[in-house]
Amino acid sequence: MAIRNIREIGEEVLTKKCREVTEMTPRIRELIEDMLETMYEANGVGLAASQVGVLKRIVVIDTTGEDPYILINPRIVESSGEQTGQEGCLSVPGKSGQVTRPNYVKAVALDMNMREFELEGTELLARAICHELDHLDGHLYVEKAEGPLQDVNCREEEEED
Ligand code: NI
Repeated sequence: MAIRNIREIGEEVLTKKCREVTEMTPRIRELIEDMLETMYEANGVGLAASQVGVLKRIVVIDTTGEDPYILINPRIVESSGEQTGQEGCLSVPGKSGQVTRPNYVKAVALDMNMREFELEGTELLARAICHELDHLDGHLYVEKAEGPLQDVNCREEEEED
């Protein structure tokens, strides 16, 4: 496993639409393991493949820090309600912005064995699913942010951990 370089806002790869994964290969397995390691190392709750420069429809999400979800070719099939809150992104370091998202989403995706499964989430998990799936279509939360972005004091956050 290896930590990969996280691409930042302004880099073209973050604006591209990612392609579907058609089969599991050792290379994709390695990519997913690297994405998990990269996300944890950066203290993120989610990461899309495009954020490490790979245009494949793969995201990893872990909102609890102990139970990662791996979603291949994910799509949202149901959503309801509304939540408004602060959102950040590893590709937009040091910033956060207010974004309104559904409070509940149901996604369908493939797992590491290319078997379909459903993932339901509310609150932070619902927000993370929406945020990461946007990455797969080349969108960043900053496009949806209400009002100006705010500065986040990263050092303070690290000290709390
Ligand atoms: Ni992001």
